Amino acid sequence: MMNAMRAVPVRSGRGTAVVAYHAGSSQPACLPLRPGAGLVMVTDINAGAMVTWGRRRYGAYGMAGRRLRVVLGTGESYKGFLYLRLILRAMLRAGLGRDAVVLSLGGGVVGDVAGLAAACFMRGVSIVQHPTTLLACVDSSMGGKVGINTGAFKNAVGCIHPPRYMEAQMGRVAALPLRQWRAGLAEAAKIAAGLDRDFYCWLAIHAHDVARRAAPAIASMVTRCAELKSYVTALDDVEAGARACLNLGHTIGHAVESGMSYMHWLHGEAVSLGIVLMAKASHRLGLLPRADAAQIVRMLASLRLPVRLPLGVDAARLADALSADKKNRGESVCVVLLRGIGDCVALEVPRDAMLWAWGGAVHRLT
Ligand code: GLY
Repeated sequence: MMNAMRAVPVRSGRGTAVVAYHAGSSQPACLPLRPGAGLVMVTDINAGAMVTWGRRRYGAYGMAGRRLRVVLGTGESYKGFLYLRLILRAMLRAGLGRDAVVLSLGGGVVGDVAGLAAACFMRGVSIVQHPTTLLACVDSSMGGKVGINTGAFKNAVGCIHPPRYMEAQMGRVAALPLRQWRAGLAEAAKIAAGLDRDFYCWLAIHAHDVARRAAPAIASMVTRCAELKSYVTALDDVEAGARACLNLGHTIGHAVESGMSYMHWLHGEAVSLGIVLMAKASHRLGLLPRADAAQIVRMLASLRLPVRLPLGVDAARLADALSADKKNRGESVCVVLLRGIGDCVALEVPRDAMLWAWGGAVHRLT
């Protein structure tokens, strides 16, 4: 049985959302919904038992005829205009209005597209996030980044629309297939490596416990991730500064995913490789001691996450992605680098210097 877990207030410029991690199917203390509100539950085809749970949980809310469910498939291809439109049209056809509440029951893809639908519908209605993957629990369902992909452009259309409430049933999340679970650990490792040395050391010591899903270790990990995410989004919810650090490893991670047509690696697996490359590049640029870079690679490997380039991904294409990133300005590239474990920084680095550091890092991985 999962240990009792704390609720964590996650702050941002738009207010505070309660983030609650619960054991099994226990009920939270608060749920900010008005009886009679129109409800749309967005799930994916894997949500199964969560849908039953959601029906029970929200049965008392939403008038008959004003409760609906939209089911997406799984994978990044569902994070697109077509599915955003599907949700919005369903809401309009059901006659929902400004009091509508969107409930997301799923992983990062469902949370992102449902969140964007909530942000757009009638210029913004509430979104409640019920993440069903570890990755969403520790990162994507908090802080309000929502969006869709357009063609090869990941998250090209989106906005910041924080949830009013986030609640995870950790007993269910911990029953995920092992590969999904490990992919979520990559985001926890990103938060630790980038923001908090003590948490990083804790994670390195407890890597085995979190990998085998020991309840006390999970409780400590998820609540620390929420506290750190709150710390960052309270400083900067719109990514004008500090929040950029949460992108550690992501530019390259996205390029790896797109280089494999989003078909072979999970997002967290690609992020793991991105963190490795950024740690090595940080070392080549003289920012990060070699021992720290090596320690980060060891930790990710101990979580059984990828630390080498996959076959079939062309290193030159990854360098192009780095050069073409939407955050770049002029002859500089915007990257998140490490100055130490738990100490990352978003910097503008001359393109040539970054490509040199990057080239060396990739070379050692192939
Ligand atoms: N997942 C990165 C962020 O929330 O900023």
